[in-house]
Amino acid sequence: MEFTMSQETRFDIVLDRRHSHSDKWSKYPADVLPMWVADMDFDAPECVKQALQERVQEGIFGYTHPPKTLVKAIQEHCSTHYQWTPHAAHFAHLPGLVCALHLCVRALTNEEDRVIVPSPVYYHLTKAPMMAERKLDQIPFVLKGNRWTVDLESLRESCAKADAKMILLCNPHNPGATVYQREELESIHAIAQQYDLLVVSDEIHCDLILTNATHIPFASLNEDAAQRTVTLMAPSKTFNLAGLAYAFAIISNPKLRQRFNKAREALIPAPNLLGLVAAEAAYRDGGTWHQELLTYLRGNLEYIQTSISGTKIKMAEHEATYLAWLDVSEYKLTDPHAFFVEAGVGISDGEGFGAPGFIRLNFGCPKSQLEEAMNRILTSLADKA
Ligand SMILES: Cc1ncc(COP(=O)(O)O)c(C=O)c1O
Repeated sequence: MEFTMSQETRFDIVLDRRHSHSDKWSKYPADVLPMWVADMDFDAPECVKQALQERVQEGIFGYTHPPKTLVKAIQEHCSTHYQWTPHAAHFAHLPGLVCALHLCVRALTNEEDRVIVPSPVYYHLTKAPMMAERKLDQIPFVLKGNRWTVDLESLRESCAKADAKMILLCNPHNPGATVYQREELESIHAIAQQYDLLVVSDEIHCDLILTNATHIPFASLNEDAAQRTVTLMAPSKTFNLAGLAYAFAIISNPKLRQRFNKAREALIPAPNLLGLVAAEAAYRDGGTWHQELLTYLRGNLEYIQTSISGTKIKMAEHEATYLAWLDVSEYKLTDPHAFFVEAGVGISDGEGFGAPGFIRLNFGCPKSQLEEAMNRILTSLADKA
């Protein structure tokens, strides 16, 4: 019999992050595996570490603006992966994407306006209109076949309201792992155009496609979409750089850009210069690391799918992100979060996204860690079968 030893990859290396003030690894006691916040347990790409080391060595850390070479690296990345080349003058640089979501709502809508958000969703998309005291309509995500997607009829109904002003999209969707298809985006665009709505498209997970789905930036659909959209992207999820705090917005419409930038300049600091350095290196030279990451994540996803088959845990088609969206409602757990923490796995509670009975499991980690987590989850549920 012939054996082929599976080769260890850089993603198999288990890193000790507990000493690093990591949010992910500080939340739970030491015997709980943290599988919650969207942050991976992988070392950053070598090109990023090297660029940072060189920049730190310079020893000059004064006020710094984003270099043209960074914008060029992002343009080339978008052009290669999305056949979309945003104009250099349309960029706004930010220390994060959450502040951009809140800023969009505050700067581009008025108090009496209604904001429309397909949900369950990453909680800042609903928090942004709530905290700004805008009216909020949450549009249900529904299962079509075995894939989560927005209910277009409910979306149309909300968008037709006289005070509707903005749609906040999350594409790829977190949680739910959906990559919107062209026809879906075109339907959403047709509705936005008919009722003259703005679209803020959070595309932070766009480089984490795990099937043969294609990510299509909303603004790339056509010129009308470009003129009514704020696109939000970042290298932080793709290359695991959240602590370096860099994100960017692309706004083609000059009036929207001006309003956004006016509010941004007043309230939001410039990105940290090391975030700029890391982003440029990642987009320019991190391609191989990125492809290897996707292969690794596909393996982890397959492992979850195989592990839960034959159980009462349900998982729809998973197209993107390293965040598995698991329906555990059939187990009728009173408090799924507490239950799984007790079992030794710190998951994100579906309730926080607006979906009690679901959990979100971060599988951006070495396979050995995922195996241990799945083992704990399945063992804890065994007597509930
Ligand atoms: C959809 C989405 N948007 C934004 C963020 C956070 O972005 P940032 O860390 O740049 O503020 C996350 C993090 O998980 C996310 O999933």
